[in-house]
Amino acid sequence: MFENRATKLTRRSLLRGAAGLTMAGLLPHNVFAATDLKLIARAAKLPLVGGHTPETAVWAYNSAVPGPELRVRQGDRVRIAVENQLAEETTVHFHGIRLPNAMDGVPHLTQHPIAPGGAFLYDFVVPDAGTYWYHPHQRSFEQMGRGLSGAFIVEERTPLVVDRDIVWVLSDWRLLPDAQISGDFRSLRDMSHNGRIGNTVTINGKVPETFAVRSGERIRLRLINAANARIFGLNFSGHQPMVIAYDGQPVAPHAPADGSVVLGPAMRIDLIVDMTGKPGQTFQIVDSFYRNLAYRLVDLAYASEPLRDRPLDGAIVLPANTMPEPDIANAERHEVTFNGGMMGQMMMRDPGRMGGMNMMEMMRSGKIWFVNGKAVVGHVMEPMLALKRGRSCVLAMNNETAWHHPMHLHGHSFRVISRNGAPTQHREWQDTVLMAPRERVEIAFVADNPGDWMFHCHILEHQESGMMGVIRIA
Ligand code: C2O
Ligand code: CU
Repeated sequence: MFENRATKLTRRSLLRGAAGLTMAGLLPHNVFAATDLKLIARAAKLPLVGGHTPETAVWAYNSAVPGPELRVRQGDRVRIAVENQLAEETTVHFHGIRLPNAMDGVPHLTQHPIAPGGAFLYDFVVPDAGTYWYHPHQRSFEQMGRGLSGAFIVEERTPLVVDRDIVWVLSDWRLLPDAQISGDFRSLRDMSHNGRIGNTVTINGKVPETFAVRSGERIRLRLINAANARIFGLNFSGHQPMVIAYDGQPVAPHAPADGSVVLGPAMRIDLIVDMTGKPGQTFQIVDSFYRNLAYRLVDLAYASEPLRDRPLDGAIVLPANTMPEPDIANAERHEVTFNGGMMGQMMMRDPGRMGGMNMMEMMRSGKIWFVNGKAVVGHVMEPMLALKRGRSCVLAMNNETAWHHPMHLHGHSFRVISRNGAPTQHREWQDTVLMAPRERVEIAFVADNPGDWMFHCHILEHQESGMMGVIRIA
């Protein structure tokens, strides 16, 4: 699993020692349980589809899709050496982790991009437990669309008692009939509609058939949406999954609304799933987010022998993380409005909101989405907001488009406090909040992490065509 190859790194050798390798032997395949880690980004060929289908040419970390699962403990200091063997620049962003700005992996804004043949050492402490992930932040729409991403799990100091702790990295691919990745990245159609939706969904890099379970088993299922654009709405027939965390952050355990576990791109959800079926039974997990496009993601297949008579019944409440509580009554308030994209004529009456551009000009310039009237391309820009360090802030976000947008803020987790004027039931902490068309969502956080932080839509084709800004905290 780990390639012990000679390294170009000059600062120090980050190859894992014999102790680490012995420990890794006890863990599931492709998990790094160490704090000195190494990721090599490069081209590879992998059997995504399986069967008699040819292998798919991908870009991958350590020749695996997803990349190795990084698993550390809350409070650990981690050092991750990234080596770039791609033919283009890259960086790695550790999505959702509240780390120092210089380690945030945003090209030009927080670091020089890693040149082909170059390397960069990411070195930070993980303050909070939870389910996170890592991915490039350079030409993400293609680098991620070709396979570069992986899970980053920070374990609680006292983990919940479950039978298995499982990670599912959900990826979405646009494959040609020969199982090769379609090269039509950055298409105007994808950018102006709902992004690059693929035709093949994988769980942990494989088109899944069945997932083996046992009666009485309790599973902590960590879902990570690593797709460029696909939103998932998963229905677990015959089971009652309980949501225990959004984007890594604990929430009061509850059943998902309408029984559907909805994850926009970049979102994570931790579930507790008790395997209440009988030995030998099979249940479908169906993704029915897009109307008329429901498909079976995978089957839960029960073994013929139960694990125990009935599931464990211990507590499933996670201990709180370390985010400071925003003081909402005294918070600074800012309005953020999103505009643009393909839509009906109705919305085009106010072109002022789209930088004065009409649809033709938007398509020609590649500036299609607007945050407070600006479409930005690239990572260097005037901040859209400057916040005072330590202040509580409320961002009232208005989605004036006809599309969903998963909005992500770097360096912080925020509470989602209201939707369309109604207080949210769980006041969930998130780092990526999915906004429905025309929805108004208020988020609140303490601007306690100094630096220039990206704030963008995580549909990567929207990000690429303007839906991005910088929030400066000083
Ligand atoms: Cu998951 Cu700006 O990134
Ligand atoms: Cu978007």
